[in-house]
Amino acid sequence: MAEQKTILKALAGETQDVPPIWMMRQAGRYLPEYKATRAEAGDFLSLCYNPDLATEVTLQPIRRYGFDAAILFADILLVPQALGADLWFVTGEGPRLSTITDQAGVDALRPVEDIHETLNPIYQTVRNLASTLPSETTLIGFAGAPWTVATYMIAGRGTPDQGPAHALKDENRPAFEALLARITAATVEYLSAQIEAGAEVVKLFDSWAGSLKGEDFTRYALTPAQEIITALKARHPDTPIIAFPREGSENYIGFAKATGADCVALDDSVTAEWAAKHVQVDGCVQGNLASRHMVTGGDDLVRETRAIVDALSNGPHIFNLGHGITPDANPDNVQLMIDTVREG
Ligand code: CP3
Repeated sequence: MAEQKTILKALAGETQDVPPIWMMRQAGRYLPEYKATRAEAGDFLSLCYNPDLATEVTLQPIRRYGFDAAILFADILLVPQALGADLWFVTGEGPRLSTITDQAGVDALRPVEDIHETLNPIYQTVRNLASTLPSETTLIGFAGAPWTVATYMIAGRGTPDQGPAHALKDENRPAFEALLARITAATVEYLSAQIEAGAEVVKLFDSWAGSLKGEDFTRYALTPAQEIITALKARHPDTPIIAFPREGSENYIGFAKATGADCVALDDSVTAEWAAKHVQVDGCVQGNLASRHMVTGGDDLVRETRAIVDALSNGPHIFNLGHGITPDANPDNVQLMIDTVREG
């Protein structure tokens, strides 16, 4: 039998001398080859829905750097689109969607079983990748967590403080909860389909979890993650799941145990020492180099990378950034980070 892949070993709880490594947004605008393929596709959404080109951009960072994992090229906002929301991207600004402001808006969404009509090309990309990736590379699928996806569906765009979503939650809780329930059900179907198409691991991105405090965090970040993970584990018990309740701070503690996640991804607002003590005690952690080092490079990058590897060396660890790499990053700094992780 072939040796188990390094990412899967970490997710199974194994401590390794050299942590496996991949990077959020590893296929992206900091790479000239990504920009060329995106130009060929015409726009970002056409790239997501073109299985040949989406496969190509997923493979680009694997070819260039030999990361231990490839992450499916797609976006968390394809689920709202599959549920019937209008979605478009404004160059230089970000996503725009039709908004949901009340129960009638939730009721007008398409039924969950219809999402695959829109999302079939994504499953084709997963199948392509499963058959072309190098044998040592793990294929990661993903979706947005219900709260984060809802913040975009309610506001119709990204917001600095998720104000419109908090307002709907506080003013019309039944409609807000109905929306979260719909996204939760759709996410289970979407991730299940990715696993059936060949995703070996799935990751749930709750990018705005940090704006949920106290009881709200439990109800709208932790509980939906637990529901999704429980449903996926019932269908696909052997597929590891990474949860990313970004900027969860104290709420990172116990999150894996409470939700059933196999790994918690950490942003860079917590130190690796703190995470070793409070989060890694429960199992695998992923993270958490600040993405600015991919812009600034140099001795700081090397020192910080070594410090994170050292601090998390006594337990299962997947090296990653604390958030996605930015378009102004220098591709040489990515190589320097990888060399530092692998060569010590
Ligand atoms: O990590 C990967 O390489 C896989 C692909 C991936 C993308 N988006 C591609 C993308 C993943 C996992 C995502 C997740 C995603 N998308 C999140 C959660 C993670 C996070 O970053 O917090 C969120 C909030 C989104 C929504 C989204 N998509 C926004 C807000 C934007 C615009 C911001 C920006 O960077 O321009 C996108 C666009 C997007 N998604 C790009 C990429 C490579 C850039 C689009 C382009 O090429 O113009």
